[in-house]
Amino acid sequence: MNILKKTLTAAAISAALLPATAVQAGEVEVLHWWTAGGEARAAAALKEMMEEQGHTWKDFAVAGGGGEAAMTVLKTRAVSGNPPAAAQIKGLDIQEWAKLGFLTSLDDVAEANNWDQLIPPVIADVMKYEGSYVAVPVNVHRVNWLWANPDVLEKAGVKVPTTLDEFYKAAEKLEAAGVIPLAHGGQPWQDATVFEAVALAVMGPEDYARAFVEHDMEVINSPMMEKVFSEFAKVMSYVDDNAAGRDWNTATAMVIRGDAAMQIMGDWAKGEFTAAGLTPGEDYICAPAPGTAGEFTFNVDSFAMFSLDDDENTEAQKDLARTILEPEFQTVFNKAKGSIPVRTDMDMSNFDACAQASMDAFKSSAKNGGLVPSFAHGLATTSYIQGQIFDVVTNFVNTDDKDPARATDQLAAAIKAAM
Ligand code: BGC
Repeated sequence: MNILKKTLTAAAISAALLPATAVQAGEVEVLHWWTAGGEARAAAALKEMMEEQGHTWKDFAVAGGGGEAAMTVLKTRAVSGNPPAAAQIKGLDIQEWAKLGFLTSLDDVAEANNWDQLIPPVIADVMKYEGSYVAVPVNVHRVNWLWANPDVLEKAGVKVPTTLDEFYKAAEKLEAAGVIPLAHGGQPWQDATVFEAVALAVMGPEDYARAFVEHDMEVINSPMMEKVFSEFAKVMSYVDDNAAGRDWNTATAMVIRGDAAMQIMGDWAKGEFTAAGLTPGEDYICAPAPGTAGEFTFNVDSFAMFSLDDDENTEAQKDLARTILEPEFQTVFNKAKGSIPVRTDMDMSNFDACAQASMDAFKSSAKNGGLVPSFAHGLATTSYIQGQIFDVVTNFVNTDDKDPARATDQLAAAIKAAM
């Protein structure tokens, strides 16, 4: 029996032993975009834990990595007065939805379960609107990862690159050996994911934050940003010609199969390796994206809770919020998802080596200033500015005549227009 099943069975037994009065069944409709292999296994853990408490899970999955499609569908549902109980909403968008009056307070659940003690303050702040919890964090994803196939690297005689220059040298050898150096897909958020890893490597965490969190024009419109674009162009030159329209998990599968050597992607990619039964360090390698060792671009998944009319469904919604932060769920879910628990008090000894490395880097980077929010995943800035950055970055990727100076001007103008 695998660990997921074992833990779920244990949860089923303890739920069965609860007095019947503790169960007030309701329905939770949950909007998310977790449809890839590892993601779906992780979402199933939440569904099963809710069903074990007697509730009905109504799945509202909208495919499309990064969640852009899901957000469009959510807006339509909310505007028509029929929002789901919970929706995967992240970062500053939580504040936007709360400001519009859609969200409900979770303070009773938070107080009863000591959330303020469990959740790092930097994350708790994002979950609160005017001091009240309106969302619950699920996990912490590290975005600045490099995934690699060790057999492919070995055959081409290259080591895992730790700097951008090492990456280019390795990529040349891999290309000469007839493999695709970098697996990548064709969506703006995927381009932005690689772009922000390169930006962090070139700029360092302080200037990264000045550019992408504070939007300081001196840093955005600078020779340093031109360098980011020129390095990004070099990195992207090692992607094959068929990337257009490719999903991120298809790119991960290329690394798993050995058609490609590496992928720069957040650790939801690890969910794919895990779902394929692979072991880190043996079958695949996780390493910091080149030039970003010790630094940590964070992406926190969270569920915002909408105001509901039905009492039983509101109870079920509270149970959902409580369950998400319980150690059992944090363990089962994050092992499948590839992320680390959002609670920093968890025993990491039975997590894999990549998750342990991620937790270590999360904690150490929080102390030494290397912890920065991901703009590609909605943690650093508003969705308006994020959209503007995506447009500039993706246009750059899709233009043959790449001009870093022009792209820098465009980025500055686009961010200014959305501020
Ligand atoms: C989400 C992850 C998800 C990934 C790919 C990210 O923005 O935070 O949970 O796995 O997109 O869909």
